[in-house]
Amino acid sequence: MFAASPIKKPLPGRIWDGDDMSKPLIDMGEVDALRIYSLLDDYSGYESPFLGHHGISLLLDVVAGDENRRILLDAGQSADPILYNAKLHNIDMSSIDMIFISHCHYDHTGGLVGVLKEIGREIPVVAHPTIFRENYIFEPHLRNIGITRENGREAITENGGQLVLLDEPFHLMEGVISTGEVNRATDFERQGIGTYNIEDGRIVPDRLMDDMSIVVNIKGKGLFIVSGCSHAGIVNIVRHAVKITGVEKVYGLAGGLHLIKADDERIDKTVEALKEMNLKLVAAGHCTGLKALSRLSTVFEEKFELLHSGKVISISG
Ligand SMILES: [Fe+2]
Ligand SMILES: [Fe+2]
Repeated sequence: MFAASPIKKPLPGRIWDGDDMSKPLIDMGEVDALRIYSLLDDYSGYESPFLGHHGISLLLDVVAGDENRRILLDAGQSADPILYNAKLHNIDMSSIDMIFISHCHYDHTGGLVGVLKEIGREIPVVAHPTIFRENYIFEPHLRNIGITRENGREAITENGGQLVLLDEPFHLMEGVISTGEVNRATDFERQGIGTYNIEDGRIVPDRLMDDMSIVVNIKGKGLFIVSGCSHAGIVNIVRHAVKITGVEKVYGLAGGLHLIKADDERIDKTVEALKEMNLKLVAAGHCTGLKALSRLSTVFEEKFELLHSGKVISISG
C-alpha cells in the first residue's frame, strides 16, 4: 500500500473542459519562496564541476507558510548524472516529496526509476494520462522517443511511484499547480515537432498534448512557470497559466523552450510575446537552442539567465 499522498488539494473545484475560461479555474494560493536547483541540463556551465547530459531535471524547493516541499520536475535520460549533481548541490534525494513529469520523452523520463530507487520510498509521480504511449520520430531513422519500458507503469509502481495521471489543472501544494493540458491558442506555436503515435495500425501525427508545466505563485511577485520542453509553446503555457489562475502578474519562467529547430519568425514572435509580459526573469536551457538563447539574452539583458546543470535560482516574496 502507498503512503498517504502529500497532495493537499488534489482536484480543482471544476473540471477543465477548455471552454469556459471566463473565470479562474483554480484558486492557487501563494508561496513565500521558491528555490530551483538544476540537477541536470544539456550544458554543465563554464568551469563547472557539474555534469551535463541531454535532458533536464529541476528540483523545486518550495516554502509556503510552515510547509516546505520538494518537487522534482523531470528525470533526465539517465539517473546517474542527476544523482552525481545532486550530491554536489548537497541534496539528499530522499527529501524529494513528489515527481512531476512534464511529458513522455526519454530525455525527461529515462532516469525516473533510477531516481525513485534513490528516493527509496513511496511518493506521487504526476503526469498526463497519455504519458505511456509510444512516440515515434522517422528522421533520421525510426525510433520511439517516448518513455521506455524500464520506466513504464509497472516499473514505476514497483519502485514506489504513486501514479497520479491527470490532464486538468490541480494543486501540487499550496501555491503550486500543474497546468494540466495546455490550451493551444497562438498561431505561431501550432506546428508539432514531427513525432507520431501509432493508433489502430495507423501513423497519426502527435501534438504532444501531454506537455504540462508547473506554475508557482510567489507572494508579491506573481507567477513563475517551470517547464520541461514547452512543447505546448511557451507563450501558450504562460497565457494558459494566467487564464486558469486569474493571476495576471507573471514574474518569470525557467525551463527548456524547444525553439532549437524553430524558424526566425517563430523565435521573433515568441520573444516579442514574452517581452510584452514584462518578465523579470527568463531562465532558459535544454532544448531552447543557441539562436533563441542569443535573442532572449539580447532582449532581456540582465533578466536573462542561462539554465545549466548546477544553476540555482532563488526567488522570495
Ligand atoms: Fe521533448
Ligand atoms: Fe527535452
